[in-house]
Amino acid sequence: MPRMMKSQLEEFMRRMAPNSVAIIPGAREATRSNDTHYRFRQDSDFFYLTGFEEPEAIAVIKPSETNKYALFVRPRDPEREIWDGRRAGVEGAMSEFGAQAAFPIAEFNSKLREILIDTDTLYYRLGVNRELDDTIIREISAMRGVNRKPIHSPQTIVDPASIVHEMRVFKTPEELEIMQVAADIAAEAHVEAMKAVRPGMQEYQIEALIEQVFRRHGAAGPAYTSIVGGGPNATVLHYINNDAELRDGDLLLVDAGAEYKGYASDITRTFPINGRYTKAQREIYDLVLKAQMQCVEMVRPGVTHDQLKRHSIEVLTEGMVELGLLKGEPEELIKEKKHEQFYMHGLGHMIGIDVHDVGKYYFGQESRPLEPGVVMTVEPGIYISPDTKDIPSQYLGIGVRIEDDVLCTNNGPRVLTHKVPKQAEEIEALMSNAD
Ligand code: GLY
Ligand code: MN
Ligand code: MN
Repeated sequence: MPRMMKSQLEEFMRRMAPNSVAIIPGAREATRSNDTHYRFRQDSDFFYLTGFEEPEAIAVIKPSETNKYALFVRPRDPEREIWDGRRAGVEGAMSEFGAQAAFPIAEFNSKLREILIDTDTLYYRLGVNRELDDTIIREISAMRGVNRKPIHSPQTIVDPASIVHEMRVFKTPEELEIMQVAADIAAEAHVEAMKAVRPGMQEYQIEALIEQVFRRHGAAGPAYTSIVGGGPNATVLHYINNDAELRDGDLLLVDAGAEYKGYASDITRTFPINGRYTKAQREIYDLVLKAQMQCVEMVRPGVTHDQLKRHSIEVLTEGMVELGLLKGEPEELIKEKKHEQFYMHGLGHMIGIDVHDVGKYYFGQESRPLEPGVVMTVEPGIYISPDTKDIPSQYLGIGVRIEDDVLCTNNGPRVLTHKVPKQAEEIEALMSNAD
């Protein structure tokens, strides 16, 4: 059966202004070095609307036309397909991807006037593809010049993200099914890592194991570069070298998520390399866990991103005062942002096709309230650099983050990543049973 137009595209059309057209380009191939490329990943908005995963594609959406949805694509080419693989081609764009018309990408420029003509509004995201920006601007400018003929060009250019990104904030049941698989795959990888880790291993061995699990289950790979940081490396927020030895007595922080059918998962766990947390590690760990679990519980309709962040700061700051990491009144310390020495990042972010997903966090000055269908990460942490002065020495070099992906529903939070343990006892039990 031919594939239908995606329901997301139909909804996008319903939200477009009267008498408008949208031009949505796909991603371009990215060079890795010389003449070799990274594996192609489609532009997230383009993928969301079309599901089409080849490079050199442009979607043209014009609800007032009989053919409302056209795709410009690479044509079939037996010679090139020997090297780069199968192309859907013009036929496939229609039969497999629901386009009502399709053309070779090389014809886009010559059809541009026809695309733009007699529309009031053009939806097009300026500033991403300068070459296409120029082509479109030149055409509009040329059309303006023809003022003694009945040729009307768009008067307004609107960023389609104003529609698409708001749609992407709310996940459909079909999207949530895929996100649950992405979460399950990542959870399994973290469990495997907990079972496998031993003092003397290298961080990259754990990275390899995790990404092996991702690929084994059909994930495209990691949704972002995996962070595998032992000991003090866990205090470097974006540590991705993953090339140090894992030492007895240290913690290991793993922040790794899979990209499955275009959707990301994002999990962090911090566990002891020898299978047992020390007393000091446990104190920091339990404090982060307390903040994390309370914030997960708060993921409910009406709660704002700022309220969540604020709560995590309060719990962590009070706890850090009790442990002697900070000295003073928690309220004062928060006012003076003293907690940022150890907790310097946000509580979390929305997640979907992009790991750091699109959508507004503020409406004007107001923090966005959560609503059913929103998926966000909850990922507080404490990072104590080894050269911190004037703190109890047992805490030096400890970095802990705990991160889950949480769906907001009318019935409370649903933790997509619940299959990987986070209570210290559960983790220790899992690790000791792995011997
Ligand atoms: N791994 C990226 C993040 O946690 O936001
Ligand atoms: Mn995250
Ligand atoms: Mn993460």
